[in-house]
Amino acid sequence: MSNSQTIEKIEQQMFLDVIRERRSVRAYDPSVQISREEMTEILELATLAPSSSNLQPWRFLVIDTPELKEKLLPIAFNQQQVVEASAVIAVLGDVESYKKAEKIYGQAVEAGFMPVDTAKSFIERTVGMYSSLSPEVACQIVFTDGGLISMQLMLVARSKGYDTVPMGGYDKAKFVEAFGISERFVPVMLIAIGKAAKPGHPTTRLPIEDVAFFNEMPSIEE
Ligand SMILES: Cc1cc2nc3c(=O)[nH]c(=O)nc-3n(C[C@H](O)[C@H](O)[C@H](O)COP(=O)(O)O)c2cc1C
Repeated sequence: MSNSQTIEKIEQQMFLDVIRERRSVRAYDPSVQISREEMTEILELATLAPSSSNLQPWRFLVIDTPELKEKLLPIAFNQQQVVEASAVIAVLGDVESYKKAEKIYGQAVEAGFMPVDTAKSFIERTVGMYSSLSPEVACQIVFTDGGLISMQLMLVARSKGYDTVPMGGYDKAKFVEAFGISERFVPVMLIAIGKAAKPGHPTTRLPIEDVAFFNEMPSIEE
């Protein structure tokens, strides 16, 4: 094996370890802080996730002060990780993300990835389509993209030695009210992030035969 093949193999193994070792952690070391710089780097890497028409509808509200974590605690049904973790990241979806289409496709032109005329027609089509979606469809799109960014964020965090837990257990109406979030941004999930004080419980997965099928779905569901 050549040196570069060996390095590739090691990198692949490290990536698989990140996937295998990620676990929902619910007990955190409250003394650990994540610097703004490192948090920004984690978020920046997470945003390499794919999104519908590359509109990147994710927005992050990073809650990292003790006062705001305390405020969030009852809204998240007193789940202790909210106050013990270094931060709680609220992943939000911008249902008017098409408003950034011009910027996004402009960047692609500037980077030399797209001719200006192609960008213009993309912008026109994207804005036309996304601005006329029903609220339900717009939400569905940001939930899909929001799920992808959340997963990527958790894996990036793990690769940097941090632990996470995704959280759907919170009162969304109370959350948007308490944190002054406009209707334009729908909450996707909360992600607590920090260093584990206790490892997450091991969990199992269904056997692959129960969930994966080739070319045809089985006719009878158990
Ligand atoms: C959308 C979503 C919402 C979740 N909400 C909570 C939650 O509110 N509180 C919690 O402790 N765990 C929550 N979890 C974590 C799951 O319980 C956990 O992912 C699952 O049991 C598998 O364990 P693992 O993440 O350690 O592999 C949530 C997971 C997902 C994907």
